Amino acid sequence: MKDTNNQKGLNSIWTDSLARNLYPDSYALVDHLRTIHQEHTGFTEVCASFCRDETGRNSYEWLAELVPNNESLRVLDLACGSGPLLKILFDRNKNLNLKGVDMCPEELALAKTRLINSGVNLIESKAQKLTTIDDNSIDIVLCHWALTLMDPILPVLEEIRRVLTSEGQFVALVDGPMSAAPNYKEVHDLIYSYVQKEIPNYGEIDLGDPRIRGSESLSNLIHKAFPEAKVNIETNVVSMEGPAIQVAEIAAGFFYAAFVLKPESRKLMITNLSELLAISKQSTDSQRQGRFSMPINRLLVSLNIK
Ligand SMILES: C[S@@+](CC[C@H](N)C(=O)[O-])C[C@H]1O[C@@H](n2cnc3c(N)ncnc32)[C@H](O)[C@@H]1O
Repeated sequence: MKDTNNQKGLNSIWTDSLARNLYPDSYALVDHLRTIHQEHTGFTEVCASFCRDETGRNSYEWLAELVPNNESLRVLDLACGSGPLLKILFDRNKNLNLKGVDMCPEELALAKTRLINSGVNLIESKAQKLTTIDDNSIDIVLCHWALTLMDPILPVLEEIRRVLTSEGQFVALVDGPMSAAPNYKEVHDLIYSYVQKEIPNYGEIDLGDPRIRGSESLSNLIHKAFPEAKVNIETNVVSMEGPAIQVAEIAAGFFYAAFVLKPESRKLMITNLSELLAISKQSTDSQRQGRFSMPINRLLVSLNIK
């Protein structure tokens, strides 16, 4: 049996491969993601809901803005997790025809509780093989903070293309350029420096397809997969403030890498992170305020297939 998240830190086939200097395959990636989401179900929405842009929108709301409000559109939330985006859309317009897909049963169970009696269709499936969804049956595919994790990515883009109508849209929220948000690179480097003490090549090898993380490589990949589409990428920054130690906990929760740390080194990392994020000079930890900012990109792909 697998030994997960004990005093030794989180263990998966993916981390075992890295520890043995092997390149993890897609089976190892799925095992790793499922292990984390089983242990920490709903963790993404904690951080993503708190972080807001200058006008007060969190990243779910920023993405949901691109779904028109006045039609009974067919919308698919790909890798919907615990369902926060579907809930925003359902509360806004009960006429939308909503579906959510995710490969993690624990996340879907949480989504089911939140969307009880909503009629939203929740499906357990991998994004690479959407067998229960018909060709040309969806007007908008959404994907919030999950494209970055998918490898192989090309079958996912092919499935999105297959299920979308000829004038459909694909809208995704992915990592923005690190330089767009103050201190973000320092936060990233600090967390990875702790992780690399335990797994030296974590970072050199990371989850998913690295092309999703850069605006230019993302644009090239999308142009290849959707040659006739109009592609637009916008950058935004979302932030949160609060007691520095709490902000550090929530910010670290957003980095998959932080989940592999042993409890002792995680504690040390959080203390260092709260110092890095501090924006006030109070002497006690409980009084010190902190701020975390995160760069995000919103990808909009508009098909126009004749
Ligand atoms: C960071 S969470 C985001 C969840 C949700 N979209 C949100 O933002 O709250 C990533 C989600 O992607 C799902 N996921 C990752 N790779 C997947 C794949 N290949 N097929 C289906 N779901 C996948 C995970 O199970 C997890 O629920």
